[in-house]
Amino acid sequence: MEGKQECLVFAVNGERFEVPNIDPSTTLLQYLRSHTRFKSVKLGCGDGGCGACVVLLSKYDPVLDQVEDYTVSSCLTLLCSLNGCSVTTTEGLGNSKDGFHPIHQRFAGFHASQCGFCTPGICMSLYSALIDAEKTPRPEPSPGFSRLTASEAEKAIAGNLCRCTGYRPIADACKSFAADVDIEDLGINSFWRNGDTKEVKVSRLPSYNPKDHICTYPQFLKDEHCPEMHMNSKGCSWYSPVSIEELEKLLHSSVAENCTRIKVVVGNTGTGYYNEIIDYDKYIDLRYIPELSVIKKDNLGIEFGATVSISKAIFSLKEENIINVCPGGELVFKKVAEHMEKIASGFIRNSASIGGNLVMAQRNYFPSDIATLLLALSSSVSILTGRKREKITLEQFFSRLPLDPTSVLLSVHIPYWEPIESADTNESNHKLLFETYRAAPRPVGNALPYLNAAFLAKISFHKDEVLVKNIQLAFGAYGVKHSTRARKVEEHLTGKILSLDILAEAIKLVKDSVIPEVGTSFAAYRSSLAASYLFEFLFNLTGLDYAISGDELNGNLLDEGLESKNDSDISQIARPTLLSSAKQVVESSREYYPVGEPMIKFGAAIQASGEAVYVDDISSPPNCLHGAFIYSTKPLARVKGISFKSNSLPKGVTAVISFKDIPKEGANVGSKEGSVFEPLFADDLTRYAGDRIGFVLAETQKSADVAAKLALVEYDTESLDPPILTVEEALERSSFIEVPSHLHPAKVGDFPKGMVEADHSILSAEIELGSQYYFYMETQTALAIPDEDNCMVVYSSIQCPEYAHSVVARCLGIPEHNVRVITRRVGGGFGGKASKASPVATACALAAHCLRRPVRIYLDRKTDMIMAGGRHPMKITYSVGFKSNGKITALHLDILINAGQTIDASIIMPRNMVGALKKYDWGALSFDIKLCKTNHCGKTAMRAPGEVQASFIAESILENVASVLSLDVDSVRSKNLHTYESLKLFYGSAAGDSVEYTLPTIWDKVARSSIFAQRVALIEQFNSCNSWRKRGISRAPIMFEVTVKPAPGKVSILLDGSIVVEVGGIEMGQGLWTKVKQVTAYAISKIQCDGTEDLVEKVRVVQSDTLSLVQGGLTAGSTTSEASCEAAILCCNFLVERLTPLKKKLQDQMGSVTWDILILQAHDYSVNLAASSYYVPESGSGGYLNYGAAVSEVEVNVLTGETTILREDIIYDCGQSLNPAVDLGQIEGAFIQGVGFFMLEEYLTNADGLVVTDNTWTYKIPTIDTIPKQFNVEVLNSGHHQKRVLSSKASGEPPLLLAVSVHCATRAAVKAARKQRKSWGALDETDSTFELEVPATMPVVKQLCGLDSVEWYLRSLLTR
Ligand SMILES: Cc1cc2nc3c(=O)[nH]c(=O)nc-3n(C[C@H](O)[C@H](O)[C@H](O)COP(=O)(O)OP(=O)(O)OC[C@H]3O[C@@H](n4cnc5c(N)ncnc54)[C@H](O)[C@@H]3O)c2cc1C
Ligand code: FES
Ligand code: FES
Repeated sequence: MEGKQECLVFAVNGERFEVPNIDPSTTLLQYLRSHTRFKSVKLGCGDGGCGACVVLLSKYDPVLDQVEDYTVSSCLTLLCSLNGCSVTTTEGLGNSKDGFHPIHQRFAGFHASQCGFCTPGICMSLYSALIDAEKTPRPEPSPGFSRLTASEAEKAIAGNLCRCTGYRPIADACKSFAADVDIEDLGINSFWRNGDTKEVKVSRLPSYNPKDHICTYPQFLKDEHCPEMHMNSKGCSWYSPVSIEELEKLLHSSVAENCTRIKVVVGNTGTGYYNEIIDYDKYIDLRYIPELSVIKKDNLGIEFGATVSISKAIFSLKEENIINVCPGGELVFKKVAEHMEKIASGFIRNSASIGGNLVMAQRNYFPSDIATLLLALSSSVSILTGRKREKITLEQFFSRLPLDPTSVLLSVHIPYWEPIESADTNESNHKLLFETYRAAPRPVGNALPYLNAAFLAKISFHKDEVLVKNIQLAFGAYGVKHSTRARKVEEHLTGKILSLDILAEAIKLVKDSVIPEVGTSFAAYRSSLAASYLFEFLFNLTGLDYAISGDELNGNLLDEGLESKNDSDISQIARPTLLSSAKQVVESSREYYPVGEPMIKFGAAIQASGEAVYVDDISSPPNCLHGAFIYSTKPLARVKGISFKSNSLPKGVTAVISFKDIPKEGANVGSKEGSVFEPLFADDLTRYAGDRIGFVLAETQKSADVAAKLALVEYDTESLDPPILTVEEALERSSFIEVPSHLHPAKVGDFPKGMVEADHSILSAEIELGSQYYFYMETQTALAIPDEDNCMVVYSSIQCPEYAHSVVARCLGIPEHNVRVITRRVGGGFGGKASKASPVATACALAAHCLRRPVRIYLDRKTDMIMAGGRHPMKITYSVGFKSNGKITALHLDILINAGQTIDASIIMPRNMVGALKKYDWGALSFDIKLCKTNHCGKTAMRAPGEVQASFIAESILENVASVLSLDVDSVRSKNLHTYESLKLFYGSAAGDSVEYTLPTIWDKVARSSIFAQRVALIEQFNSCNSWRKRGISRAPIMFEVTVKPAPGKVSILLDGSIVVEVGGIEMGQGLWTKVKQVTAYAISKIQCDGTEDLVEKVRVVQSDTLSLVQGGLTAGSTTSEASCEAAILCCNFLVERLTPLKKKLQDQMGSVTWDILILQAHDYSVNLAASSYYVPESGSGGYLNYGAAVSEVEVNVLTGETTILREDIIYDCGQSLNPAVDLGQIEGAFIQGVGFFMLEEYLTNADGLVVTDNTWTYKIPTIDTIPKQFNVEVLNSGHHQKRVLSSKASGEPPLLLAVSVHCATRAAVKAARKQRKSWGALDETDSTFELEVPATMPVVKQLCGLDSVEWYLRSLLTR
């Protein structure tokens, strides 16, 4: 490899980096985070599935003198592949020192950043889209805008996850750059005020000039351009051959060195799926071999070199010049391109190669889309094996043994399919049909399909009949090794005139052919999808009702709901995939100015620019070690030992600690709930899969993670009882967690009496609910630093530093004053960083204590998901009595909650559940709620713990009652809403005064604002006109009881008049600090001197430090913001009281006094300018009710089970909001998290209770394409209330419950589908009484709509 550069040179944000020696498996993310100051790139998943790590990559082509810019996921991009490249991170766009970029400013101003952990990656996705748009030949945009379209702006972030915002504000921030945006459509922001004209609005947006693009590629890199590189480091080598010959030599020499493990790489995105932990000896980067990156178009088709990226392939398939080369071929190619746009996300497609995809499909059985598309088009591949080159069909390629590591895929050829042949002698017309299909949990937001398909057919028309001359049907990703052709179906159809009989037989055959391998999830669903798609492809050709228009290949024959006149409407359902409109109504109040202002969230701009410091961004102190947990994979077993294959510690590992290393004066404790401590490590006995049994300490996080995965744990279960894994087993073995009596909720009324009053009853009906994972974007993390005199400082991303403080002290056996826990900001918590963050911090502290070295950890996503616990699953059995008019008279519930092994927050579940359940007047309410102690990871509080399940249970019961009575469920809901009297009976003092009971008003208002009644009628009409799309609408109320807890505060005024505030509450994205800033400014301004108008700018809220402010408590339960605000107000009141005499004196002397002078004088007069407080709510005033209601409309695709939320209308009572923008963000974000719970997220375990949906491939939170297409939210200001903190109400958790209406609307749509199925003769099931599971995923919905609906439909036509 002579003459090649032996050192890696690249640039980051214009700075030159030269790396002579690096392990070639190092990713760009690892390098940036550990070797540079650019910490904006965040690790959210490491799979390519979240976008937190997105950066812009720029490459220079010296021949064309052109710079190519595109995004990549830095967690998958190998550093060595970046020689000669330039990397731009969000810090490089702008920052607090040099000025923020308009992207940062607009993200802040549109309130698009909450915890901020996703924000840097999203900013980069948008930035790249802006650069791309500038390269398009579009007209010059108006000043302030770009050439980007609104739709492109949204699509740009389709692969980026955000768990906080619900995406709507992010979409607005992105769309604010779009040339075609209607500025009036953009939501609440800090730039303009109501009543501003369009022109004023545009002028107030932070100015953007596309010409001001920062230079992404520095000149010095152009000057020293030398991309090819050979790097030899620590026994591993990186090669970038520049010709096939050189590649052959390399591979040959590798074969000769037969122990060499070689890896051919292109984009390295494959590691996102396979999460390899093997180290290779030789990496061969194929991207510098020109032949492999060529795209050739001729009249035979298109050939892609193997390293061509999916993005480039899409671009060239869509290119206009295809028309000249392959006239008419563009129709097929365009469809292939459109399908490819649904693969992964932009930042993956940009580096993922076509060849890599096909090799993964061939060698590793990856469920590829590309394989299926190309198979249907009879594509072929060229491969190099040894020195032999061969060209074989894709089908032959897949039927061969897996490609060995020294064989290389060179190119793939897609033949040109001529669309229309000339009319033949029989005057029949020939036509080529091509269509592709894909059923995935998210339409465009990065999700593998349950099944994909591509169909190609040559047909000819003979009068009214259609002859199938040739047909190629490819299916893939459904749980078989490779994409396959359904030959039997093809044979059956070829040469036939299409008829219903022929189609019905084809459907039968396809179901017999498309059969997933044993063990594949949703096997029957996947087969039914194959039938659905074939039906969709062919039905309109059966002569019954077809109409193929001019240029259409197929599909889109009929469309748009009410206009469809007949029941054979099976056209492809072209719903808008992204947010189409949104409206926010907020009423702010100036009574306590600046409280009530929709102020920008504190720190939003530095979050966008990546400068906000999270725990893992704190630079490692010298000598720092990194930890990783070894967890049990068994639910109940003795741990006999932990070892490694080599019998010595793996490379880079320093130690493995366990419970045995706890100091003798300490205790095995890892977390605390109330006064109950729970163990840090399993002792000799592991009690659940996911239990912590050891902690590996290594020089790097990667070495620690790998070692933890390689650790061999020896278990022994002899003479142990079998584990308890279900609530039924717990019941049988009386394994329960006791709920303290003060937490027992009270029953209401007399259940037997209520049942006697009933006209009807439902007895012992059952509901089951699963779990949900927090999916905070920042996983659990901590850094522990030993300090002098046996002290320990712990930085932790935790919702309750105070608890971790006590636990660390107890574990180490040191006094609490030797411990300090510091938390600045948390990258999303949602309850998951309360008790569960404590063992993470404690393990680091223990290791630091034992090894006398700093220790840190950043959990990988898989471990985090396995150890998180999550929402409580439960089983509910209920009996309900009701009158014929739908009024409930009595309800009894037996609830078995799977609490897992530890007590944690489970003891609050009964009270929380009953609190939310009581939203309806049940007449009499009784219950028996048991917390089952099982051998699962202890469940803990997740946003609205218990309340969300209870809200669902209540709706489910009413749905059932309405079905039994054949009544409209909305009227049953209305009938059972509380009167103020019944509210008082159910809630006691929490019901407050009658004016506070705003739910009836909200209930009516949301019906009016959503035009509910009219839409109900329209939907009925729609459903009667459409067989394969069914809509449902639902209105649901929520009630949520909160309790305000005590909270500490401290406010200090510094010499220059700036103010520093400490509060117990932790900033996790919910805007707590912003509200505290506002109230501090308000409360201090009561001093009434000049210069206090802008006081809010002088206030800074600082990190929580458990030694500086004690009794910080737990940030949870939605009320910490208001309690922290009240604590700050109390401090301010003290300060105002102390300053007032001086102010008066100065005023008397000088006539007026400014704030700055007052404070200077106060120092001179020795006024105590620091005040602390501990706010304790007055007894009886701590609890109140929150109200809201939502109307959801959904559309269900009966063929696939896909549910689209068409429109959402929410009204939520925030009292007098402390900051309406922050509260709106909480409402929307919580609602979308609820949509995740009800519709998407499956948090599953295996038979041992080990979580198996443990990554972004298998766990699907909502993305921008799954939120409501129209999203209207009103933050209701219900006015002054003297007992509330400045009349405000909570917003963090209650709105999550509103998402139940989406589930109910889906149920209504499913009901319509079942009714129709019944009309086709499927008499086996009832159409109205059924349970729709949570989450109502595609397979669940399709199952209820009928896996065989196509067959029933055809049968009904045949027997007509
Ligand atoms: C988050 C995410 C989502 C995805 N979603 C989808 C999806 O929905 N549908 C879909 O079809 N795909 C999907 N993919 C797969 C993606 O298309 C592939 O990861 C990508 O195309 C692989 O290309 P690469 O250049 O990154 O390959 P690499 O990761 O570099 O290589 C992958 C494997 O192929 C080998 N290899 C690569 N090129 C060659 C060659 N020319 N000859 C021999 N061996 C070779 C490598 O040694 C390695 O074993 C997704 C990937 C990610 C990360
Ligand atoms: S961390 Fe790279 S995509 Fe999630
Ligand atoms: S703001 Fe997006 S994940 Fe928190």
